[in-house]
Amino acid sequence: MSANRPAAVVVLAAGEGTRMKSKTPKVLHDIAGRSLVGHVVSAARELDPQDLVVVVGHASEQVKEHLSAHFPGTRTAYQAEQNGTGHAVRMALGELGHAPQGTVVVVCGDTPLLSGETLGALVATHAADGNAVTVLSAEVPDATGYGRIVRDAASGAVTAIVEHKDASDAERAILEINSGVFAFDGQLLADALGKVRTDNVQGEEYLTDVLGILREAGHRVGASVAGDHREILGINNRLQLTEARGLLNRRLLERAMLAGVTVVDPSSVLVDVSVTFEPDAVVHPGTQLLGATHICGDAEVGPNTRLRDTTVGSGARVDNTVAESAVIGEGASVGPFAYLRPGTRLGVRAKAGTYVEMKNASIGEGTKVPHLSYVGDATIGDFTNIGAASVFVNYDGESKHHTTIGSHCKTGSDNMFVAPVTVGDGAYTAAGSVITKDVPPGSLAVARGQQRNIEGWVARKRPGSAAAQAAAEAGRQFSDEG
Ligand code: UD1
Ligand code: CA
Repeated sequence: MSANRPAAVVVLAAGEGTRMKSKTPKVLHDIAGRSLVGHVVSAARELDPQDLVVVVGHASEQVKEHLSAHFPGTRTAYQAEQNGTGHAVRMALGELGHAPQGTVVVVCGDTPLLSGETLGALVATHAADGNAVTVLSAEVPDATGYGRIVRDAASGAVTAIVEHKDASDAERAILEINSGVFAFDGQLLADALGKVRTDNVQGEEYLTDVLGILREAGHRVGASVAGDHREILGINNRLQLTEARGLLNRRLLERAMLAGVTVVDPSSVLVDVSVTFEPDAVVHPGTQLLGATHICGDAEVGPNTRLRDTTVGSGARVDNTVAESAVIGEGASVGPFAYLRPGTRLGVRAKAGTYVEMKNASIGEGTKVPHLSYVGDATIGDFTNIGAASVFVNYDGESKHHTTIGSHCKTGSDNMFVAPVTVGDGAYTAAGSVITKDVPPGSLAVARGQQRNIEGWVARKRPGSAAAQAAAEAGRQFSDEG
């Protein structure tokens, strides 16, 4: 690829994208955890260009902020008014300050499925054929809205691109379209842009006119037909956004499956581009894997699970769970119906069971929190068992406090650990205890009211009730047996 290293890549992203009907600029809409323009910039970077310029205009500050946050160092050119794609490229060359020596690649910021590989093939064809311009074209089932590739009837050579709005009926019947991606000779591009006129239906400077201008001046003009027309899908509305999401998702899952991941039902699984897997990971239906999530080998996630920025250790089982910024240890068990919030770290073979919520909690090796509990701001040692329905009372209404529980502890069901508090290694606590004081290692803590039975209360206070009759019956049996 470095032999064909382009002098510059220009990404066109100044348009508003009115058909999205959104307050968010079109190119900042997200698919698979990355903005539309982000996908294009990522693919463009695979060409290793000497310069990369994104043309911004509509909501330019927002787009520039986004680029500097996610793609630091990206240059931008400002196009104050959207006077057409040709005008936009002129602004980019103005930003560079010179007509580049070598190849200039132009891509639109709204074609997120375009791969670096396809761009590389276009640049290679452009160089091999010695063209002044090579357009990436595609055969599509429905060409409505696209610029049409017009070829010479006899030779088949590309003669011009005609925009849909400017096309004759005969031209509209052409199904080979302009993807909006080009490789140009930089010097010839700069020259030709100076000659582009605005005498078209939209009154704009069309980049596509450069092709006809170069051809008329006797230069070589070519087209490279994309293997799969879906790759050049341009996003103009939400329907196309969802369609592209589906195609990209399928592409990501196919890559994972071919690398050894079992995806039981790809149609119900969503993954982001930044998710990584190891072979023999299993993904069950209804699962969303987002952000920097990593699934180790032999781990099983889902069904019905959403993980963001979460690591699942090898052999772990995560069922019907929502987790964010959590680390799940090797062989650990989570769910069904668990919620792991940021800062949760589950040790090797640890368990966060049914209806368990955790936040900022470090759970040691083999420690189990099996049922109906909230563990917030806590450190728990190894091989401890937390009784059902326990709450780590971490908030006093002003600040959060920490609870520490040692190793090999057995805490009773329905305990409240009122932080800050510490339970020592090997300690026990009685069911129903509200633990407000530290428990020394090896002690049993009992912190609840004593039970008092008031005999005959029902017969006196609820005479004639079903309860009173049942009690009387039980009393007779009791005296019969006695
Ligand atoms: C453009 C092409 C068309 C092609 C189609 C592929 C032209 C004249 N037409 O049409 O041949 O089939 O893409 O999807 O090039 N932009 C700017 N500044 C402008 C105008 C546009 O930066 O002044 C940017 C837009 O933000 C967008 C891209 O250029 O990312 C394409 O613009 P758009 O208006 O979507 O062009 P199409 O009508 O789709
Ligand atoms: Ca478009």
